[in-house]
Amino acid sequence: LRVGLLFGGRSGEHEVSINSAIAIATALDAQDNAMKYDVLPVYIQKDGIWQAGDIARQVLDSGKPLTSETNDKKQLWQFPPQVAEVDVWFPILHGPNGEDGTVQGLLTLMQVPFVGSGVLGSAAGMDKIAMKMAFAQAGLPQVKYMAISRSQIWSNPCVFPKLCDEIEKTLDYPCFVKPANLGSSVGIAKARSRTELETALDNAASYDRRIIVEAGVVAREVECAVLGNDNPKASVVGEITYNSDFYDYETKYTDGRAELHIPAQIPTAIASQIQEMSLKAFTAVDAAGLARVDFFYLEKTGEVFLNEINTLPGFTAFSMYPQLWAASGVPFPELCDRLIQFALE
Ligand code: ADP
Ligand code: DAL
Ligand code: MG
Repeated sequence: LRVGLLFGGRSGEHEVSINSAIAIATALDAQDNAMKYDVLPVYIQKDGIWQAGDIARQVLDSGKPLTSETNDKKQLWQFPPQVAEVDVWFPILHGPNGEDGTVQGLLTLMQVPFVGSGVLGSAAGMDKIAMKMAFAQAGLPQVKYMAISRSQIWSNPCVFPKLCDEIEKTLDYPCFVKPANLGSSVGIAKARSRTELETALDNAASYDRRIIVEAGVVAREVECAVLGNDNPKASVVGEITYNSDFYDYETKYTDGRAELHIPAQIPTAIASQIQEMSLKAFTAVDAAGLARVDFFYLEKTGEVFLNEINTLPGFTAFSMYPQLWAASGVPFPELCDRLIQFALE
């Protein structure tokens, strides 16, 4: 079976995607998988151009992105000929233009099965406002939030102070301001004062038309991995600890700044509650194949709030998703095998 390993992509998480793809390519070349699967790496450059063959292989081998800046839009429609030989796609693209349903729409049009969520699950799992609406409908507990549009921030100077007043009244400080459709904490800020709130809103609006502001909580951050389609299973729960104000981009991607603890040292009843909520969250956005579901656990009150779902979570050998499954009895190569089998169901 020819597996199209689709990686790179037009997002700020391009480098993370390359690392995820290296780990998956290695797992698919490992003993049992090597007999079943033939991997075709397909690399999406930062400018959106698709590459297969030697160029894609070179990026996988070196781990380094290819720099090319083309303004030739026509090239965007010239897919490498090898694409026609793919039996099943394994897209491992993080963030916009890959995790958000855009690529999933293209693969659907190609009529080739692919690993992970379809258009709806990907789009709903990417947009933090749509995601929260689906979670609320499913009765899942979340922190208080307000959905805001860029036009409320930029278009009318009379509306903006009123908007800030309302945020202060409804959510108080500290609050978290986020672009609705990004990942890896890009564009997210913690606001502790009116000035910080104004700056954070202006900055978030430069990333996205849709913005979300949330009441800040002091909590432990715990995560659970989900695997399957209509009858998904939840892994053991893991915890992330870090030495910074919050889990921002720098903390996520600077070596030694964050630590994973698997399984999380939390009461068994809380872990079960988190697993159950993860499966509900998975179904609520119509996810498929895989997802990592992230929570806030308030130790003092025993409350658990759902933070977000990631339909294409980080997939390097050191990432939370594969490590949670390894600790739950599914080693990395078997995990990749199962994901491909779920794509073919
Ligand atoms: P991303 O999708 O970019 O990972 P998140 O919504 O998970 O964005 O936010 C990134 C990080 O910001 C979280 O892991 C957490 O450390 C912090 N954070 C986000 N929202 C809140 C909140 N409401 N209260 C406390 N911390 C938060
Ligand atoms: N968006 C990153 C890759 C994650 O959620 O793991
Ligand atoms: Mg997150």
